[in-house]
Amino acid sequence: MSPISVLAGPASIDLASNVSKELNAGLVIPELRVFPDGESKLRFPAIKGTCIIVQSTYPPTDRHLLQTMMIARKCAEDGADDICTVIPYLAYARQDRPFLEGELATISLVAKLLAASGVKSVITVDMHSQLGMSLFSSIEIVNISSIPLLANHAKGMRLNNPLVVSPDAGGAQRVSEFAKHLDSDSLVLKKYRNRSTGEVTIEDPDLDIRGRDALLVDDIISSGGSIIAATEVLRRKGANRVYAMCAHALLLGDAAEKITKAGVDEIIATNSIPNQFSKVDLSHAISEQLLRRYGMRSS
Ligand code: R5P
Repeated sequence: MSPISVLAGPASIDLASNVSKELNAGLVIPELRVFPDGESKLRFPAIKGTCIIVQSTYPPTDRHLLQTMMIARKCAEDGADDICTVIPYLAYARQDRPFLEGELATISLVAKLLAASGVKSVITVDMHSQLGMSLFSSIEIVNISSIPLLANHAKGMRLNNPLVVSPDAGGAQRVSEFAKHLDSDSLVLKKYRNRSTGEVTIEDPDLDIRGRDALLVDDIISSGGSIIAATEVLRRKGANRVYAMCAHALLLGDAAEKITKAGVDEIIATNSIPNQFSKVDLSHAISEQLLRRYGMRSS
């Protein structure tokens, strides 16, 4: 089997370092220069064998995506046997279809660009939709669910009669799986988003949740609009504590403050996007996936 190296993209150095330790593989941290016009330049020695590039493409999304492709291209030109990219937060995954006339399913373009860069496979976390996965036709894509990890974290939280809640129908499967781990029940709210303004509204459910702790679970918290609207509903219905849990806490602008103001007691996310809310570590789940894929033994 060819030697394995883990390359740390500038967005995910800690995660890459943890994965390389778990795999007992060499870690390469490319030298990065960002020019005043915003262009990145990366430099690292030629690597043979299998290259595992770890880079989450959170904002600045386009920069992080291009850096991933630059690392992959350089590995390909240096003669790597296999190039696998671990992209926990995959930018553009939500653009899996043209929602309005004249729009593009951009994730399909991202898949083609990664393939053109020499990437053979992508490992991601909580990919937004099955449709998005299906648009990776010329390249393999594997999804890791963060639900067992988030649920395991929730088990240590001393919850009072927990109710696992999805802000929208797209998360129905997610909360049903989460609730099974907690041996509790789940609720799927009815969300409407104005595709032009982005404004979110959620219907009040016909359910008594007084005194219960609510765990709002989503794949992504971006502007916070979905979690805020859902929290307002849960508060109106008398929930006790409200927690917001997700794989990818983008939390753009002052989203975290607005979420807290709306009544969320704590935001809990994975370290797909490193920030103060990334309390659940993905490195073991990613390493396990890589160990299965490459038949390596853990250190
Ligand atoms: C939508 O379908 C997703 O699952 C998330 O609910 C959404 O992307 C979150 O975005 P925001 O925080 O801006 O409402």
